[in-house]
Amino acid sequence: MKNIGMDKDSMRKATSRIVRPLLLWYRENKRSLPWREAPSPYHTWISEIMLQQTRIEAVKEYYRRFLTRLPAISDLAEITEDELLKLWEGLGYYSRARNLKKAAIRVEEEYDGELPADFEQLRSLPGIGNYTAGAIASIAYGLPEPAVDGNVLRVLMRYLNRDDDVMSGKLRSEVEDCLREVMRQAFCGGTDSYIEEEKTGPGEKAEENPAGDFTQALMELGEVICLPNGEPLCEKCPLREECLGREAGRAAELPVRKKKTVRTVEKRTILRLRDPDGRVAIRRRPDSGLLAGMWELPSVDGHRKKNEIPSVVGELTGSEDPTGPVRKMDKARHIFSHREWDMVGYEMELPPRDMVGMVWASPQDLEEKFALPTAFSAFVRHL
Ligand code: ADE
Repeated sequence: MKNIGMDKDSMRKATSRIVRPLLLWYRENKRSLPWREAPSPYHTWISEIMLQQTRIEAVKEYYRRFLTRLPAISDLAEITEDELLKLWEGLGYYSRARNLKKAAIRVEEEYDGELPADFEQLRSLPGIGNYTAGAIASIAYGLPEPAVDGNVLRVLMRYLNRDDDVMSGKLRSEVEDCLREVMRQAFCGGTDSYIEEEKTGPGEKAEENPAGDFTQALMELGEVICLPNGEPLCEKCPLREECLGREAGRAAELPVRKKKTVRTVEKRTILRLRDPDGRVAIRRRPDSGLLAGMWELPSVDGHRKKNEIPSVVGELTGSEDPTGPVRKMDKARHIFSHREWDMVGYEMELPPRDMVGMVWASPQDLEEKFALPTAFSAFVRHL
């Protein structure tokens, strides 16, 4: 059964149970990464922007080089765009670098060279969205703001055994709201606060930044344990006892990701040209592109009218406008991954003759010899 949606309270209660095991696991197991050595706001910002479309291993060297050349925000604000793009060369998505410079200039002008310790102010800077603002706010400033990326969504959809589409913006905000509440309650006082319960014993050092650790622990869990593509390492997971997806045996099949299909609709006119023996004219499609190399009924762009068909056929077959009865067929529609054909069809009977680029196929040939894509099915029925 699909498990979509969940009331906010149950979601928050279930999510609050991950805080303690996740933090304990993170403290024991966190990887040593260059941006964890001195997590200043600037360092966190640069690393999070670099990490957005790029693997951790690939980022490490860029990160070191970038900060050696630009150790402070003022350096970033002043660098020429050419030099900046050279530093970024190979990382791709160059608008990230341009936005960094634009934001650095604003930080110099409006915030005295310091990234603001405020989620909304961070978010208003170029190139900084909810994720980066949440990462800087929590990792660098210890604020209870979540940073929800694909890893975090996957962890939570599995933990809560939820089938919601992780591409949906609504789900992302729901998860952000839930985590924000959980973090506030756990890290910002209150009677059931995580900090209250975790009060340090004699000689123990209090945790420095539980909010930042929690943010990074969620990301880290998604990167090293709760792996994508049906490969979670559940036996190593600190949340395994409480994980509803695992309990239901569904961790590997979650999360659900509905592809956003942006489809363009193309109008086409399909021609079923028949000879007196009942054979049909077909031709081969080009070697590249949609349905490459497959056989098809001849067709032209757009929706043509019945009285235009003789001249269309004349052009297609390289002959004078043929005469013969034309019959309009039922319309049909075919959906490909990124496009849709909205088709009208006409049948026309022609005297048998050679036609450039066409082959006459009998109904039996069509069944046995030539592969005609299903897009044309509606027009070869009842032959
Ligand atoms: N992925 C993106 N940012 C990260 C971070 N700060 N720690 C671990 N993984 C990350």
